Amino acid sequence: MIPESFIEEVLSRTDIVQVIGRYVKLQHKGSNWMACCPFHKEKTPSFAVNPSKQFFKCFGCGEHGTAITFLMKFKGLSFPEAIKELADDLGMEVPEDRQAKIRQARAKTLTDYLAQAADFYHQTLFHDRHAIEYLKGRGITEETVNKFQLGLSPDAWQGLEAIFKDKAYDDPKLEESGLVIAKDGHRYDRFRSRVMYPIRNPRGQVIGFGARTMAPGEEPKYLNSPETPVYHKSQELYGLYEARDAIHKKGRAIVCEGYMDVIQMSQGGFLETVAALGTSITPEHVKKLFQLSDHVYFSFDGDAAGFKAARRAMESTLSIITDTQTAHFVLLPQDEDPDSLIKSQGPEAFEAQLRSAFPLSKFFVMDIVREVSQGQGLRTAEERAQAVAIAKPLLQRMTAHALRQLLVQEFAAAVRMEPAEVASLCGVTLLDVPQTKPAKALSGYGRDTKQGERSKRPVRPVTTGPVFTNIKRRLLQCFVTHPSWLIKYSDQIEYEMLDTVDEWEEAIVRLWHLAQDHSKGEGFEESKLTTGYLLSFMQGDPLYNRLADLASEEEVLQTPEAVAEFEIKCAFLKLEKAQLDAQIAELLSMEERGEPVESQYLERLFKRRQDIHRSLIDESSQAVDFVLDSRLSG
Ligand code: UTP
Ligand code: MN
Repeated sequence: MIPESFIEEVLSRTDIVQVIGRYVKLQHKGSNWMACCPFHKEKTPSFAVNPSKQFFKCFGCGEHGTAITFLMKFKGLSFPEAIKELADDLGMEVPEDRQAKIRQARAKTLTDYLAQAADFYHQTLFHDRHAIEYLKGRGITEETVNKFQLGLSPDAWQGLEAIFKDKAYDDPKLEESGLVIAKDGHRYDRFRSRVMYPIRNPRGQVIGFGARTMAPGEEPKYLNSPETPVYHKSQELYGLYEARDAIHKKGRAIVCEGYMDVIQMSQGGFLETVAALGTSITPEHVKKLFQLSDHVYFSFDGDAAGFKAARRAMESTLSIITDTQTAHFVLLPQDEDPDSLIKSQGPEAFEAQLRSAFPLSKFFVMDIVREVSQGQGLRTAEERAQAVAIAKPLLQRMTAHALRQLLVQEFAAAVRMEPAEVASLCGVTLLDVPQTKPAKALSGYGRDTKQGERSKRPVRPVTTGPVFTNIKRRLLQCFVTHPSWLIKYSDQIEYEMLDTVDEWEEAIVRLWHLAQDHSKGEGFEESKLTTGYLLSFMQGDPLYNRLADLASEEEVLQTPEAVAEFEIKCAFLKLEKAQLDAQIAELLSMEERGEPVESQYLERLFKRRQDIHRSLIDESSQAVDFVLDSRLSG
């Protein structure tokens, strides 16, 4: 523990402008220093550093804090590490207890040994034609070899004796560092004749190695450093030191499965890539990543092991993610990893994968459905119940309430339950959902029973209640996000909603009218019909806030366009089906009462109802299939 008083002293002697100025180009403006925010992408500066308050704040993304917070966020340092860095600058020594001092001294020896070994392996590589050819053959450039300080361990039992001469090779600390193994009174190098990947901590110190054999088929393929006082697999990420700046700049981090993936990705322009070290993604990993960026992409190989790893990553993410952050999941085609994909199809292919990645909410539903039904879709009540049971502990570990709410809603649709039921079964609370206004009193049910191609909507609010509120809320959200669909689905809107029965329909129809007006204007181009454009007409309107909320919520969800459109189609089908049910029921009761009913018309209603029913059979399985299809073909 660092004493509070010491932290205060460090802060009082530190000039935040100087600290931040080292990493960000600051310009003096009035009482502040301004810059383009290092924590989000922007063109005009909204990042302000205030010397009198010793505080920074970004008016764009809201990031704020002290010099300590800045170093933690920007460099990915822990709290003590940040204090240490500031104290070092001031020439102050952090008063730590004896234990920590001893630990530190020992760690220093370990990292020194590891650094020397890394240099040695790196040099050795350049003298070995076979290893150079191997790396060349894998498409690795010399620049990359240097960036990641790749190396080669010599083909010798005591290769490291070359640098740790005399007694040093016998130093127990060399054993503790994982470089040397002691057995039966003999000592020998752990890594022999392997390509060496040094693993660095966020401060750039070498803390361990991954070592790959060059002999095809040799087991194990990778030999890794053991856990040591400086190397904890559950906390460290390969490539993080090298990727940190790019993660800041691009505003996202990508997590792959392997060393070679990180290296190939970096070469392909994805400098923001890291990997877990032959372990599953832990909450500590996720925490580190979200400290550096609000957007994390996990990429997994499209095999059984990949699915399993993705589930673990999802579990770790759920407990860490906040409402302002997003996680996406990329599942690569079978037998591909980022390395092979980039080599065979170029970086664009991976960028396309990122674009079609599943947002956490979708992956959550899909992964659970897949586990329960092996890709068949939920067919029985038992399977749906099982899905709920799997979701329960996952939902419970979440602390992001808005995100959880949305997740519950999406999940509820898949298991065909009310969100409130899912929430109560899973022991989580839902926040208040906007209530539907009492439906308008409408008269003249069945006023239009002319035989059209489609059944006409009975003028009675049969599509109110929570299920329909959810459907319509989602429809509204899709339309706000993709306003051009207001034109594309004009028929459906007109048919389903012109007799608005609730505020959701009213809102959709308002937008529809706006889009209609706009599309009739001169020089209409669909591309101009954007969310911003629509909202610009709604300023000051009571509806404005709700629409803006829905739009930004969708930004968090980032539903792939094809999936959103599928949802729209399903939603209209469900609404139409509900109308049909009501109409059929009414006609049947008329028949019972002996009133005249046109049987052909009734038949047509039945047929239409059956068509809809068929296309909606087990929407959840369809939705999941659809999502999978769109991924496989995309
Ligand atoms: P992969 O088997 O997918 O290897 O393991 P890779 O990364 O594609 O490596 P190349 O392309 O064959 O060189 C993924 C990760 O799992 C860990 C390593 O961290 C590896 O990068 N792993 C794998 C091990 O730790 N030991 C092994 O024997 C195999
Ligand atoms: Mn590979």
